[in-house]
Formats: sequence, structure tokens, C-alpha cells
Amino acid sequence: MIKLSAKDPVRFTGDMLVYFLAETGKKSVPCREKAVCMAVKTAWKSGDFSGKSGQSYWFYPSSAKQFSASRVLVVGLGKNKDSEADCCEQLRLAAGTAVAVAAKLNVKTLMAVLPEKNQIAPSAIASSITEGLLLGNYVFDKYKTLQKNQDCTNEFPSEFFLHDGGLTHLQVRRGMNYGRRAALAACKARDMANEPGNSWTPAKFAEYGRELADKYALKCKVLNRQAMVKLGMGGILGVNQGSALPPKLVILHYLGNKKWPTLMLVGKGLTFDSGGISLKPATGMEDMKYDMCGGAAVFGAMQVIGSERPKGINVVALVPATENLSGAAAIKPGDIITHYGGTTSEVINTDAEGRLILADALAYGIDRYKPDAVVDLATLTGAVIVGLGHHRTGLMATDDKLASRLMQAGELAGEPLWRLPLGPEYSKQIESKVADIRNIGGKGGGTITAACYLQEFVGDTPWAHLDIAGTAWDFTEKSYVPKGPSGIAVRTLVNLVRNWKIS
Ligand code: BES
Ligand code: MN
Ligand code: ZN
Repeated sequence: MIKLSAKDPVRFTGDMLVYFLAETGKKSVPCREKAVCMAVKTAWKSGDFSGKSGQSYWFYPSSAKQFSASRVLVVGLGKNKDSEADCCEQLRLAAGTAVAVAAKLNVKTLMAVLPEKNQIAPSAIASSITEGLLLGNYVFDKYKTLQKNQDCTNEFPSEFFLHDGGLTHLQVRRGMNYGRRAALAACKARDMANEPGNSWTPAKFAEYGRELADKYALKCKVLNRQAMVKLGMGGILGVNQGSALPPKLVILHYLGNKKWPTLMLVGKGLTFDSGGISLKPATGMEDMKYDMCGGAAVFGAMQVIGSERPKGINVVALVPATENLSGAAAIKPGDIITHYGGTTSEVINTDAEGRLILADALAYGIDRYKPDAVVDLATLTGAVIVGLGHHRTGLMATDDKLASRLMQAGELAGEPLWRLPLGPEYSKQIESKVADIRNIGGKGGGTITAACYLQEFVGDTPWAHLDIAGTAWDFTEKSYVPKGPSGIAVRTLVNLVRNWKIS
């Protein structure tokens, strides 16, 4: 779907040829291709194009001699940026803009010419442009029965070509492959989230986990209800009580070398959250099919890890999966459950269910795999949206090194995080009169008290928690992030693992 091409861009015979130009503030916008320079000059004079981010401009070549492509598109990058993360984001955004224009024009084949070297490495330029193109090209239309073209405005390109634009070819190839793997995994995470609750069930998580394991040579283990009863996983079982579908705990394991440190990932796989007996309001409840985005992110990351087989780190991923419904046997407010490992919990609100299933997965995973670091991801609290809006993921951690690694990984992915505190004053809010803890923290600091609940189950293992409730869907509007699920955190986790040894 995306290929590196050595063909002279001028002789590219597809539907659209794309150039990326920076905003210089000077009288003209520099470009390698003279004919583009000339064309842009006219647009610049009219004030239509100065290379600003979000701007684009296309023209039809005066002759096939000038360009063999049907159209030439010029996309603004904005002013040169200082940090690597900002440079990458600028490229992703511009590539996303290019795809949006292409889709409107029914472009099928597109060649993107990489912009000239700025501060960042050619591989980073290539991976960012690739990500922007493939993430921006995402559409979920599998349930639309209309014939294509009949009433469909989203006719996206199907074939992309990258041209190195004079940058080192080998590095560009490497970057393109990095970007493609990460972007396609994020698109897969979006697919899982877009699937409705009656299709993406706990059993589906298990089935897809096995599929990933087969394809990418990972180990896969699925714990079913019986195994959970034996192990005493009262959290997952409790949440599952009101559902007709059995719960699953899906475990994927990339074991490179026993001597390497192990990173454990845990993702919330709540395939539909009605709130249970503490029922949610009807308006907007359909969005709660997205309550499995933590699990989707973890699966997306494992897809990349399985195919890249990084050296120096092992990764084990756990996805506890169930629905939260209000069937006759559903867990009730006031019920007391016993988690894996023996901690008892008073369930005050059945809608605070994410922490219940994560607690078992964290405690069991740490016990069983003895990881050196743990990262969990969950659409855990509405409160994180109150605090950070839809622009940053909430980060809470017991380990500064792990927190800063995640901050960097997120920044570089264009998925910024913001750290919130933990502490005994917050943990006090989840004390119970009748059990060890209770599952809600009362007024104030809802995102933090949810994390405090999880903290009870990680012991001394360095741990970080990502609350992605604000960013997993309705994420900051960007050219390469469509409405709906964003695929958040897949690329953050991939960066975390790729850069584990370096940082
Ligand atoms: N899945 C929700 C969190 C959520 C809410 C995600 C809105 C995205 C948008 C979670 O299970 C939940 O219901 N949390 C409750 C906790 C409360 C009962 C303490 C919440 O945030 O309201
Ligand atoms: Mn809930
Ligand atoms: Zn939930």
C-alpha cells in the first residue's frame, strides 16, 4: 500500500504528486523542482500560499512534459521547528492534509516527495510522513452496504509512493517501514474500537490475540472463567456477573531472551460499559463500546513488537476483557469482592469497573511474570476529561524514570501526556469501613483516586498508569486523526519499546 519509488517524480504517472514546503517568511517558497517553484510563486503573490501549516494548493500541469502526474499538490509545513517531536508532528500534519485533499479529488495513486533535510534524521522524516499518510487515510466503512461512490464522499487513495527527495535512500526505507508498521497497528486499534459491542466481544479479543500470536510468533495464553475462579480473580468475575458473555484474560508474550528485562503492559478491555446496576445515562452510552481502547492499544503495540522483535527487552501484555452489564446476577453496590492475591474491596459504584478488572490483571501479571516495569492503559475516568480535556493523556506513576520515558515517547508520537500526582492523601479517599479498600474515592481527584486503587496491586514494581479516557476518541482535531477512535497510545508504546535501551 506504500512503497518507496526511485522514479523521477516529474515522470510519476499517477493521480497526484505531492510536495511539502516550509514557511520561510521570505518572498518565495524554495522547492527542489523548478516548475513547482514557478507555480508556487504565483500562488504566493496572490496571498493564497505561503507554506503555513494547513495550507495547500494544487495545479494541473501545463503539459505531460512538465509533469506526468494528473495533479501537483503543494502542502505547507509551517515554520521550521526546533525540537525533533515538533518537526515530526509538523510532517504528520502536512501528510494528513495531503490525504484529505486527495480524498476529496478521488485520487487513487499518490506520490509524496519527502521535504529536504531539516534538523531531523531522514528516517524520522520518512516515518513521520508515512504515519501522516496512512493514519490520515483511515476509514471504517465495513458496515456501509451502499455501493462505493453512490453516496460516499470518502474515496481514499489506495496506493502511496514515497520519493526520497534526495535524502539517503536506505535511511528513508528504514523510516518508511517504521512508520508503516506503527501507523497500521494504530489503524488496527481504531478498527477494534470502531467494531460495535455485539461484534468486538471478550471472545473476539481472545480470538484476535491468538491470531496475532500465530502471525508474529508470540506466546498466547487465554484464561477463561474457570481459570479465573481457580485463581481468585474476584474483580473480573464480579464485573462479568451481569453479562451473558464469559470473560477472558488474554496474555501475549514476546520473550526475546530470559536475561533481558521484562516490560508488562496491561490494557482495559471493557467491550461495553453500561455502568452496570449504577447505570449510565442513555445519552452517549453508545460511546462506551470504546471502553476497550486500552486493550486495543496494547494489542496494536504487540503487533509491532512481534514483527520487529526488539533486542534488550521482553514484553508481556495482558488484556482483561468483559462487558459491564446489569443482568440478574450483576454485582450490586455494597457487594464485597476479593481480588487476586486476597485484597478485599467494597464496590460502592458498579460503574467504577475498570479498576476492578485491571487490579486482578496487574496483581496476577506481576506475580506470574515478575516484570521490571509495568504500564497500564485504560479509558478509566470521565474526570480526566474534566482535567485535561481531549488533548493530553493523564499519566500517574510510582517511578520517575518510567514516567519520563513515557512522556518522551508520547511527545515524539504526537500523543502528549500530562503527569498527575499520587500520594497517601489521595489513597486515604479509597479507605473502606468494611473491606480493605472501596472502589470510588468520593469527591475530587477522581482520576488520581482511580490510579490509587490500581497502585494497591503493583507493590514495589515501577509502574505507570495512562488514563486515556479523553484521548482514545474525540482526540484533538488533527488532519491525520479522524473523528471517532484515535488509536491513541499504540505509537507511544512502540516508541517506548524501540527506545528502551537508549533512554
Ligand atoms: N469507562 C468509564 C470512564 C469514561 C467515562 C470514559 C467517560 C470515557 C468517557 C469508567 O468505567 C467509568 O464509568 N468511570 C466512572 C467512575 C466513577 C463512577 C467513580 C466515571 O468516570 O464517571
Ligand atoms: Mn464504568
Ligand atoms: Zn468503563
